[in-house]
Amino acid sequence: MTRTGTGPLTPDELADWYAAPPDLGSRPWVRAGFITTLDGRTTGPDGRSGSLNAGSDGDHAAFDHLRAWADVVVVGAGTVRAEGYRPLRGTALAVVSSGEVLPETLRGPAGPDAGEVVLVSGHGRTLGAREALDAVLAHGWRRVVVEGGASLLASWLAEDVVDELCVTVRPVLAGGAGPLLVPPSLSFADLRGTPTHLLLWGGDVLVRTVLR
Ligand SMILES: NC(=O)c1ccc[n+]([C@@H]2O[C@H](COP(=O)([O-])OP(=O)(O)OC[C@H]3O[C@@H](n4cnc5c(N)ncnc54)[C@H](OP(=O)(O)O)[C@@H]3O)[C@@H](O)[C@H]2O)c1
Repeated sequence: MTRTGTGPLTPDELADWYAAPPDLGSRPWVRAGFITTLDGRTTGPDGRSGSLNAGSDGDHAAFDHLRAWADVVVVGAGTVRAEGYRPLRGTALAVVSSGEVLPETLRGPAGPDAGEVVLVSGHGRTLGAREALDAVLAHGWRRVVVEGGASLLASWLAEDVVDELCVTVRPVLAGGAGPLLVPPSLSFADLRGTPTHLLLWGGDVLVRTVLR
């Protein structure tokens, strides 16, 4: 049954709406957190997600909640470079790259409350999703949130390592050639996903869809 409702939600209500399955034990749970337009674009006119989630209180609330829930946030190096990621407060950050060094904004000393930052390197090649995830889990982290970008998500969806999508749908069109939430190169034998909630918050719809 799909839960439906209307925001804004309090932090406690958000935790309830986004509660992970209670019986996971030591099994990892992988969530992908994204914002998309009606035409499935993950970037707006500025070529980044900033022009999509500007003014979206619901997306900001869900994004912050997922980061606070996570042991580790996983992100592609392209997103780090585009968005100028800095170390996260209290949550670890794992950066996936074919290269051998962290993007510039993540090098050097971090603040006292900064979470650990690790590079998951393919050493000159593209990493498969399973091997990237295994490298992340080897640190002992179990609550995993993938924040993007679309290239990284595509490979994680292709290898079926994502348990759940937490997507904000901004009901606008972007057009153009920005990255799609799911690229045309990826097709599934069946329609994927079971929606577990639809939350109308401001002008956006926050959708949670379990993939298994
Ligand atoms: N709408 C949203 O929620 C959302 C979320 C995140 C990002 N974005 C936007 O999306 C754009 C970036 O998209 P993108 O598809 O280029 O992002 P991306 O996946 O973060 O970046 C691609 C780069 O990440 C590294 N990478 C990704 N997958 C890899 C793999 N399997 N193995 C090794 N390296 C891998 C590679 O970096 P190297 O070149 O270092 O090898 C690759 O060039 C940005 O403009 C950002 O603002 C939107």
